[in-house]
Amino acid sequence: MKAAMSGSWWSDAVVYQVYLRSFADGNGDGVGDLDGLRSRLGHLVDLGVDALWLNPCYVSPQRDHGYDIADYLAIDPAYGTTQDLVDLVSQAHAHGLRVLLDLVPNHCSDQHPWFAQALAAPAGSPVRDRFVFRDGRGPDGGLPPNNWGSVFGGPAWTRVSEPDGTGGQWYLHSFDASQPDFNWRDGDVRAYFEDVLRFWFGLGVDGFRIDVAHGLVVAEDLPDLPADGPIGRHPMWDQPEVHEIYRSWRRLAEEYRSHPKYFIGEIWVDGTERLAPYLAPDELHQAFCFDLLVQPWDATRLRSAIESGLATAQAVGTSAAWTLNNHDVHRVVTRYGQVQDLSEPDPQDLLGSARRTGPVDLARGAARARAAAALLLALPGSVYLYQGEELGLPEVFDLPDEARQDPIWVRSAGAELGRDGCRVPLPWSADAPALGFSAPVAAPPWLPVPDWFADYAVDRQTGAPDSFLTLYRHLVRSRRRVFDADAPVRWLVPPDPAVLAFARGDGVCLVNVGGRAVALPPELDRAVVARSGADAGLPCDSAVWIDAARVPGGLRSVGWDVPSGVGAPARA
Ligand code: GLC
Repeated sequence: MKAAMSGSWWSDAVVYQVYLRSFADGNGDGVGDLDGLRSRLGHLVDLGVDALWLNPCYVSPQRDHGYDIADYLAIDPAYGTTQDLVDLVSQAHAHGLRVLLDLVPNHCSDQHPWFAQALAAPAGSPVRDRFVFRDGRGPDGGLPPNNWGSVFGGPAWTRVSEPDGTGGQWYLHSFDASQPDFNWRDGDVRAYFEDVLRFWFGLGVDGFRIDVAHGLVVAEDLPDLPADGPIGRHPMWDQPEVHEIYRSWRRLAEEYRSHPKYFIGEIWVDGTERLAPYLAPDELHQAFCFDLLVQPWDATRLRSAIESGLATAQAVGTSAAWTLNNHDVHRVVTRYGQVQDLSEPDPQDLLGSARRTGPVDLARGAARARAAAALLLALPGSVYLYQGEELGLPEVFDLPDEARQDPIWVRSAGAELGRDGCRVPLPWSADAPALGFSAPVAAPPWLPVPDWFADYAVDRQTGAPDSFLTLYRHLVRSRRRVFDADAPVRWLVPPDPAVLAFARGDGVCLVNVGGRAVALPPELDRAVVARSGADAGLPCDSAVWIDAARVPGGLRSVGWDVPSGVGAPARA
């Protein structure tokens, strides 16, 4: 690893994603809030994570649950006050936890005062220039300016009524119609976001996850997408001008000399050569390695995603940020419990490959998810966990239709389930009303919590030797002891090609991705320091961590074909 990065807190951090609405509800109104989070901060401390990332909690009409922001400089009253956020930051810091917020620069809410000003102003006025307004096509301008579609379904354009009531211009929204895209070629927009960054940094926030970081700039001439065939660089995404924005933000982050601020990008681009420029030393610190998230449970595919993630990070001198779950995809227990689709994910719809429906074998999915946690937490770099993952929660498919709120569900008229099923409030206490999510309970949780969630409650899992929570706590707390922070991955040649096997220093991680159990030589079995399942050896869909220093004579002595240097003598 390069000197610029080593020693940075984020380079090998475990970060816990808090979907605030669903984490813990302190005032009983059925919606999670900052008070609830503060009262449950001990859960994160016990888990041993280094930081937390909060999904957007600014003032918002909540059409896309906070990704539609009406005021970037204040906390939504449903979640608390700006002072509550300040208190959370200082409480977290006192526990050694960093705090990351979510920055949504691609679009705001149609309730943002700038959008109201733009609607009230005539076409061509400077306040409209903060957004992407265009005349429509067709004789009366009644057709959208081009054929772009919104990520949430339907056209990416909505027509406004002009102040005199006539049909007017159209505005671009890459997502819901209530989320107008900013025009990043406009100076006001650039200046505004620098103010937003400085505001929250000034309150002690340690960094930001950047929403749709590849989307801020669209091709200036707004070309139609070809009806079929390869489209090359998509005009809505990943335009070259976006990089200057990140260079300016990085300069701003470095102004905080004693504690430089940090950025991680949500960047859905196809291939590492498209991702790498965002991670140049003068741009973002890290990007999520979504390539791993969208792979099926298959040794070759997982290994090649890991190798490309490592290669990208190494090429630009940063570390990878691994993740298998977030608030936009079906939970991994469910994904790995489905029939694994070995076709390559569609590069134009990578997220879709992580939101499939179909029958689920939960026991198998759970075993694989546990093994995958051991895999991720053994890799160099940082790991982002999504709340509830440490409990082994599956996706909730059986939400009643009328309870669903995701704009994907709404805009697709129910054709796509969307993301509500991974956002169901957390179960804390198996026997408490609302499973302990709300304390006290004045209103039901904003999404119904199924009764079967009780089996996954934190209090049921605490201290239970075979629970998900016990495994996660052990893995998170021991990863730095087992794996040398500075040691790169050295792939081993395992006895079975379905086993992923690598060492970092004396730490060895073995993951059996195949369908049959693999025997471990007794010397190795005795040196296991963590196992994802209860059984000895390396059953199918399981992982172990081994301390090679405890294997007499090292790994080679047990007949493994390993590169030289692995299984070297015990640490002093
Ligand atoms: C990102 C967020 C997602 C949100 C979308 C629009 O993909 O992760 O939850 O709906 O951006 O802001």
